[in-house]
Amino acid sequence: MLYTGLQRLEYRGYDSVGIAVISSGRLVVAKGKGMLRDLEERLGFTKYIGSMGIGHTRWATHGAPSDINAHPHVDCKGLFAVVHNGIIENYDELKKKLVSKGHIFKSETDTEVIVHLIEEYYSELGDVYEAFKRAVKELRGAYAILVITPLEDNKIFFAKKDSPLIIGVGDNYNILASDIPAVLDHTRYIIVLRDHWVGYVTPTRIFIEDLLAEKPVDYTTYIRIVEWSVEEASKGGYPHFMIKEIYEQSLALKNTIAGLKSSQELPHAVKVIAEAKRVFVTGAGTSYHAAEFYALASNTLTKLLTVPFIASEYEVYGTAVNESDVLVAISQSGETMDVLKAVRSFKKQGARVIAVSNVVDSAIPRESHIALYTRAGPEIGVAATKTFLTQTLLLAWLLVETAKYTGIFSTSEYKEVVGALENSPKVAEISIEKSDKLVHDLSTVYASKTSMYYLSRHIGVPVAREGALKIKEIAYIHAEAYPAGESKHGPIALVERGFPVVFIVPGISGVERAIKGNIEEMKARSAETVGVVCEESPLKDIVDYVFEVPCPHWLLTPISHTPPLQLLAYYTATKKGLDPDRPRNLAKTVTVE
Ligand code: F6R
Repeated sequence: MLYTGLQRLEYRGYDSVGIAVISSGRLVVAKGKGMLRDLEERLGFTKYIGSMGIGHTRWATHGAPSDINAHPHVDCKGLFAVVHNGIIENYDELKKKLVSKGHIFKSETDTEVIVHLIEEYYSELGDVYEAFKRAVKELRGAYAILVITPLEDNKIFFAKKDSPLIIGVGDNYNILASDIPAVLDHTRYIIVLRDHWVGYVTPTRIFIEDLLAEKPVDYTTYIRIVEWSVEEASKGGYPHFMIKEIYEQSLALKNTIAGLKSSQELPHAVKVIAEAKRVFVTGAGTSYHAAEFYALASNTLTKLLTVPFIASEYEVYGTAVNESDVLVAISQSGETMDVLKAVRSFKKQGARVIAVSNVVDSAIPRESHIALYTRAGPEIGVAATKTFLTQTLLLAWLLVETAKYTGIFSTSEYKEVVGALENSPKVAEISIEKSDKLVHDLSTVYASKTSMYYLSRHIGVPVAREGALKIKEIAYIHAEAYPAGESKHGPIALVERGFPVVFIVPGISGVERAIKGNIEEMKARSAETVGVVCEESPLKDIVDYVFEVPCPHWLLTPISHTPPLQLLAYYTATKKGLDPDRPRNLAKTVTVE
């Protein structure tokens, strides 16, 4: 159970792996640097037998990836084992205190302080759970913690703040995990734990208490049934999650539309935006590109100033806002710390916050005033694909509803655009199908490239940025995206024979005309040009390689124009022998600042 659970969670971070089990009354630990499957060969995880255990895949924050820094960590006497996600901010100070009391640290991690703290308090209090709680109360920072000990050999102790943690509720067993796919092989009954909850599970019992409220939690009211099947959370016949998820985009859009049509939150969000003086919109990475799309579309359609910013820069904006402002916070995982910090800083200033997420009940939606959900299903590939398309659909929908509410759209205009949005699953499907044919040859050419540009204008700019991010993170090719008009202000100096320039050409006639000029200026320098253009666009004849995609409405540009760029990144990576699901140095969910 531990091994398959870890396999399902490996996407969250994977520079080292470890497990601890209670076997014949003893604590046994196996851990090391590397991927799960390599360590299975080296350490033979599956030979560790016990009725209870904890496991961890790590993405280094404090201390480099190494055998010693891998979790679980144990105390001096080898009585307690801990796994932890997050960051203990005051670990330095706690470590000094513990070292002065004679504790010997083996790793460079912040996590190890937790287990020595428990050891310290256990020797004082003589009660494991009380010692655990006392230790947790001393921690500052973010944590999802699990602890086992042969002293209480049927309990797993847990604590949660800021980092995600769930319980999978089973029949004669219970499972704790940081994400739902880890438990889906066993149960669909889930409790999403809240901040400051601590407790323990046994095979037949769950005990939770709220450390702040200092009282037990009636967990039965928090049990949810998760609709995702195990199949949905696994590869379903594709070689990688990323390509599976690219092909799932049409379905993901369909499900998201169904969700929007039945959403009770959407009308509230529309009203809040319509009444705002200014709208800020934020996210990180791909979700920032969705934010930029929303801002460009909003500034085009409405008279409401809409400002996009990268979430980690929240301090620049968070202090300049007030009650009449709104923040739209976008995060597929709902856990990205930079976005969470932005939410908190805007809320502190009195702004209203609308979250857009793919994970129900995750931290960002929970802390926002209104939560809107995409329904892309679990995204396991590290590179965001289907969540981006569904985010942009949801945001376009939100905008169109706002335009109707404020009278910018007449009923007939509204109906026309909603009709186009409803057709988005078909648009994505055609775009993927048509691109898949050309992309194989092109990716062979691109596998040997070292640098490229992705250019566009207007609503195509965030799509260009997304294309550049995908090829960078998956195929390790340096790529830069910027509004095409900027070329002559510097970047064109790099262009020489064969330099690849990908143009994203939205179906807006003025924009198309302007981009034509930019294509010509690149061709004049012998660049190799690729165009993602609308079907039958005259620009298809002037580029070296062309992807033709359907363009029913400019608001659908991310949905029509992004799939070829995702596929280009995916196939270029696989041609280079890289694993697109596990790009180096990256984790799927970034729960640290
Ligand atoms: C890129 C990618 C990342 C995420 C970013 C934000 O393919 O996956 O750039 O988009 O880390 O993640 P969320 O949306 O979960 O906040």
